[in-house]
Amino acid sequence: MGSNTGTDSAELADSSEDTAADFNSDAIEIVGVLGSGIMGSGLAEVVARSGRRVIVRSRTREGAEAVVTKVERNLNRQVEKEKLEADERDAILALITPTDDLGQLAECDLVIESVVEDLEVKRDLFRELDQIVKPGAILATNTSTLPVVEMAMVTERPELVCGIHFFNPAPMMKLVEVIHPITAADDTIKTAMLFAESCDKDAVEVADRAGFIVNALLFPYLNNAVKMWEHGTASIDAIDAAMQGGCNFPMGPFALLDLVGLDTAVAILDAMYEEFRDPNYAPATSLRRMVTAGHLGRKTGRGFRWY
Ligand SMILES: NC(=O)c1ccc[n+]([C@@H]2O[C@H](COP(=O)([O-])OP(=O)(O)OC[C@H]3O[C@@H](n4cnc5c(N)ncnc54)[C@H](O)[C@@H]3O)[C@@H](O)[C@H]2O)c1
Repeated sequence: MGSNTGTDSAELADSSEDTAADFNSDAIEIVGVLGSGIMGSGLAEVVARSGRRVIVRSRTREGAEAVVTKVERNLNRQVEKEKLEADERDAILALITPTDDLGQLAECDLVIESVVEDLEVKRDLFRELDQIVKPGAILATNTSTLPVVEMAMVTERPELVCGIHFFNPAPMMKLVEVIHPITAADDTIKTAMLFAESCDKDAVEVADRAGFIVNALLFPYLNNAVKMWEHGTASIDAIDAAMQGGCNFPMGPFALLDLVGLDTAVAILDAMYEEFRDPNYAPATSLRRMVTAGHLGRKTGRGFRWY
């Protein structure tokens, strides 16, 4: 980890003034987004709103087109609330190109991978991306927990691979964690920080440890809420109400788990348990059973609650 560990965005903005030519986020004009799930569509919207072209790639044409539909629905709500003009909505949508062809990412200056939280799937994609995307482009992952160095090392450009971790829902959440694997060049991290800030986010730099900052602190809490419910201490509604009202959290742990997706939650906990062997990270039994049953939360219409 470089000497910038813990650098916050304000410090970085100051220190980058003399080196603006090297670390100019304007150099990132075309961004590829891989994946059409919860995060893929949020990322497409965030990046298009920053005025850049976005190429969204899904395994199917329908999946990629569904991203544009989701972004359009979201932007329409903003227009209805008079937070966005209709012509601004149209300009943002015009920046998004859906595709099922990985080859279309060749000209991207930055690609953000946001597919399922599975290391082998991500490593396979990074191997392919490395062959396709132009030399000098940054390849980033939106992983919630997986070691970024594992993705960097299947490419021939490990110095250009980092994590750019957005939060859900990406258009609303201010934070981005920029993950600095030991293989990444400082310039890559600086460019990623400036890119995140140009998307109107607050960026923090963090070392490549499972869970980074937020999930390492958040997931033991979410997991323990499920274990508390399993022990019969209180109902789901009572635990959610207690944490909302008692800690002033915007939502309780079960509402948040359903928003995140229970499959993603189990994958995050498994990755942290694998790294730290701390029992607080071992997924609660009910989480695994619900994933097996396909009750993944909001995205499948059923999780701890029905949607
Ligand atoms: N859900 C969250 O709250 C959240 C927040 C931040 C980061 N993330 C991270 O973002 C990434 C995506 O999560 P999500 O919540 O959007 O998941 P999701 O389940 O909504 O979408 C997953 C996407 O991956 C694609 N996919 C599945 N298997 C694939 C394969 N073999 N090859 C290529 N694509 C495949 C799916 O078609 C889908 O587009 C994960 O790495 C996750 O950890 C999630």
